[in-house]
Amino acid sequence: MSDGLEGVVAAETVLSQVDGAAGVLIIRGRSLDELAGHARYEDVVALLFDDFYPDLPADVPATLGRARAEVFAEVSALDTGLLDRTPIEAMRALTARLADGDDIAVAFRLLAAPAVFTAAVVRAQSGEAPVAPDPTLGHSADILRMLRGKPGSKAEADALDTYLVTVADHGLNASTFAARVVASTRAGLGSAVLAGISALKGPLHGGAPGPIIEMLDEIGEPANARAWIESALARGDRLMGFGHRIYKVRDPRADALKGAVRWLDARQGRLEFAEVVEAAALAILREHKPERSLQTNVEFYTALLLEALDFPPSTFTCVFAMGRVAGWLAHAREQLAGGRLIRPASVYVGPMPKKAA
Ligand code: ACO
Repeated sequence: MSDGLEGVVAAETVLSQVDGAAGVLIIRGRSLDELAGHARYEDVVALLFDDFYPDLPADVPATLGRARAEVFAEVSALDTGLLDRTPIEAMRALTARLADGDDIAVAFRLLAAPAVFTAAVVRAQSGEAPVAPDPTLGHSADILRMLRGKPGSKAEADALDTYLVTVADHGLNASTFAARVVASTRAGLGSAVLAGISALKGPLHGGAPGPIIEMLDEIGEPANARAWIESALARGDRLMGFGHRIYKVRDPRADALKGAVRWLDARQGRLEFAEVVEAAALAILREHKPERSLQTNVEFYTALLLEALDFPPSTFTCVFAMGRVAGWLAHAREQLAGGRLIRPASVYVGPMPKKAA
């Protein structure tokens, strides 16, 4: 048996390849370097959906814009009970209100849902009225507008696009596997996406970047980095933003996102501070676990980028879902095309029934 299914091949996919030894991510034949900072999120949606959604519309940005406007109707269901929940719980609950199904219209509504619902939840939680989508805008520009109530700059929309592209798909990570398991039962794309959101929520997967901001704030200044990190590890804590099941070298997404933070020149001091903390963490992790290669993962610079774009840390996992939902939807359809129910075996290690006397 393989602990955590490490090394177990559970699917064949044409969607993405994660080469953990070389630190290379390929999405449908394109390297991350070719896509991040160059392609729009909508281009990557088209790339991932191609073949799996035969009725994919030619104008993906306009279709996604209309889907944002359609799902906004569900925002009226935000009540005080939901507003007391964390943003990802509230966003997940609103997503669960959408009709399930397997067609392209369902897929586009699900693609729009994390963006529209997260922006509405954030605003409602701070006492502001949700802002309706503008279907004519690009997805990233509209997300910033719905969040802030006014447009962001082009550089900010480009930086968010880089983020969404960077996280759109990543092999058989925990949330994508969860989505594929549910899709394999033919429960519908909505059910698969809800499984993805639920798996992503955990701190070992998509829940890491919020605590990274807490770590940086607690460290406060470069001189405190070593002592803070050593005491965290001595307590048995894990350093959020470091380590990965597949990558044994630096996660290529970390540098794509670090580059995007650099474009937003307002926070250079914060970036320099984060680089000091990163260097200290890598050095101490090498001393602490010399037998492992614990490197910076995608979440470290995700935290910096989303902070610079004014997303509250409590929403970072929701923003991850805004990007990864494209991967879940493509994998769900790839799973359906392959056909078989995912149903592994287990080994019973409990007591056996007593034999009758
Ligand atoms: N800080 C300290 N120790 C760590 C870290 C870390 N960030 N990551 C792994 N280790 C240690 C573990 O304590 C464990 O030690 P042990 O062998 O003495 O028990 C050993 O390295 C292996 O840990 P596993 O959990 O078995 O390794 P796995 O490959 O499954 O871990 C994971 C991957 C869960 C991401 C892990 O590195 C981690 O918890 N990182 C921190 C959380 C994080 O950044 N998550 C985001 C990941 S990226 C993403 O999902 C999008």
